[in-house]
Amino acid sequence: MRIPDRALAEIQSRLDLAEVVGEYTVLARRGGRWWGCCPFHQEKTPSFSVTPEKGVFYCFGCQKGGGLFQFVMEAEKVPFRDAVELLAKKAGVELPHEEEEPGGIRRETYLELNRRVAGSFRWLLQESPAAGAARRYLAGRRVSDAIAEAFQLGWAPPDRRWLWRFLSGKSYTPEFLARTGLFNEAPRGGEGRSSLLADRIMFPIANARSEVLAFGGRALGDGQPKYLNSPETAFFRKGENLFGIEKAGPAIREAGCFHLVEGYMDVLAMHQAGVTNTVAPLGTAFTEQQVRVLKRWTASAVLVFDGDEAGTKATLRAIELCERQEVSALVVALPAGRDPADFVEAGEEEALRALLAGKRPAFPFLLDGAVARFGRSGAEAKEQVRDFLFPFAAAAASRLRAEEYLRQVADVLGASPEAIAADFDRWQARQRGRMHTSGPTTGEGALPPELFLMLALSTNRDLFPGVRAGGVALADLEDARARALYVALEEGFRGEEAGLDALLARLDDAGLRELVVRKAASGEFDMNPERIVADSLRRIRQRGLQRDREAVQARLRRLEGEHAAPAEVRELLAEKQHLDSELAKLGV
Ligand code: UTP
Ligand code: MN
Repeated sequence: MRIPDRALAEIQSRLDLAEVVGEYTVLARRGGRWWGCCPFHQEKTPSFSVTPEKGVFYCFGCQKGGGLFQFVMEAEKVPFRDAVELLAKKAGVELPHEEEEPGGIRRETYLELNRRVAGSFRWLLQESPAAGAARRYLAGRRVSDAIAEAFQLGWAPPDRRWLWRFLSGKSYTPEFLARTGLFNEAPRGGEGRSSLLADRIMFPIANARSEVLAFGGRALGDGQPKYLNSPETAFFRKGENLFGIEKAGPAIREAGCFHLVEGYMDVLAMHQAGVTNTVAPLGTAFTEQQVRVLKRWTASAVLVFDGDEAGTKATLRAIELCERQEVSALVVALPAGRDPADFVEAGEEEALRALLAGKRPAFPFLLDGAVARFGRSGAEAKEQVRDFLFPFAAAAASRLRAEEYLRQVADVLGASPEAIAADFDRWQARQRGRMHTSGPTTGEGALPPELFLMLALSTNRDLFPGVRAGGVALADLEDARARALYVALEEGFRGEEAGLDALLARLDDAGLRELVVRKAASGEFDMNPERIVADSLRRIRQRGLQRDREAVQARLRRLEGEHAAPAEVRELLAEKQHLDSELAKLGV
């Protein structure tokens, strides 16, 4: 049985973290924080800190950290549930008893509910007079009726109270409904809870057995956020599921490969264009578990991505993940700014299929990309190409494969295979060294600005809505960890939750959880957070401009050798000038 968030919040509000920790180690107050010797590892000088206002502990020695519940789990070596019970007793909070919740949260009931909800949304989309705009939206994007039917697309009405009323009427208990992930937290005035997803096109998310586990919802038009996904529940983990798998599974087996695209609409578009072995991640970056799920069907991937900066970044990550698990990856880079859905919307299925037919092995693709970006005349450019590619060679599942890649690098750069191999060995040795020395003392180097921003927002969650309203969207975030944090913050904000524990529970990546806790504990975002946020927004913008400038510069360099039309050169120079002046405005 899941413990209600309400009860967890109540426990946290009644207990003081420093007091609880104080029963395990002696703490002394210093500089706004409590310090003591770490109860989890042997030490003589205190490197264990507690920040009660943030509700976090963190050890700068062994890097253990977290909130109240994690602390007791670690200290008492007990599972979450027991830690909660222990703390509930201490706080005098009564936890609901099992018997009070008829039926508990049975998987079958959960699945039946989701099926019913999907069916109702579907019916509303097709029949409700109020769904006219939703129907027009889909028609405008050229989603065929057959595809809408195959994927059971639906529409959630704008009335946020509707779903609760509807389901209560079907005799589900409030306790059960509260745990389905479909509703906001605390009931505020009136009866029941409000629905998380309203006035959106609904995409049921199913597993390979066509059991509906959750929903994604797209705003009609420009509403923000563009997509909203129901949160993880006892039966739904984002990182382990894929959109479209229930339709794509058999086709993947038959074709012997899968296509991976970026978004929900892209999956629909690919299927509509006849490429039915297509799936997408669920709003978060592609994960290792997802590769494992797909590997049950095939060990060949075709990665289909928008050729823009974010798409390229995502491709790089996906290639690395595939490579590590010996899934061979082919790549299709679409023209920058166009995804499969754009092609179908423009009636260009044929052109899309032609591009898909031009899929290429990942490594040569990376190699070409690096050469286009850095050039290959002169030692410096060659070194840049080399450094860009080494991480991918390192991810290769076998030494044999890595060697093959290094040979290709040597070929293209006109270097000797021995020189590249020697550089590679040195690079790997350095990497290993870095892994061992990177601790809190050396720091993690410069974090990408968007990750820095998301970390600052994790400890200052009241600033998140402002940043989002200020136009920072998921698509602006290249860094996978920043994206994961953005989604977690967004969902937490929707769910009106507070507290670091709840945020951490939304993050799959243990390394990221550790980073969030460490940053919260460091206190570096406590002073003047508005300023920190404004600064990192500027840095993100600056980086974008610099990237654009580099791209223009690279084009100019390439044009130098050719007989370029003077008009084109002039245009590029003008663009460069414009970018320079924008950069100057930012004070660079
Ligand atoms: P994109 O921003 O590329 O959108 O997000 P899209 O897939 O092209 O969607 P359309 O064509 O504008 O409708 C890619 C994926 O990232 C997730 C969704 O899964 C989306 O399909 N996403 C995006 C979110 O979860 N939330 C957002 O706010 C945006
Ligand atoms: Mn799209």
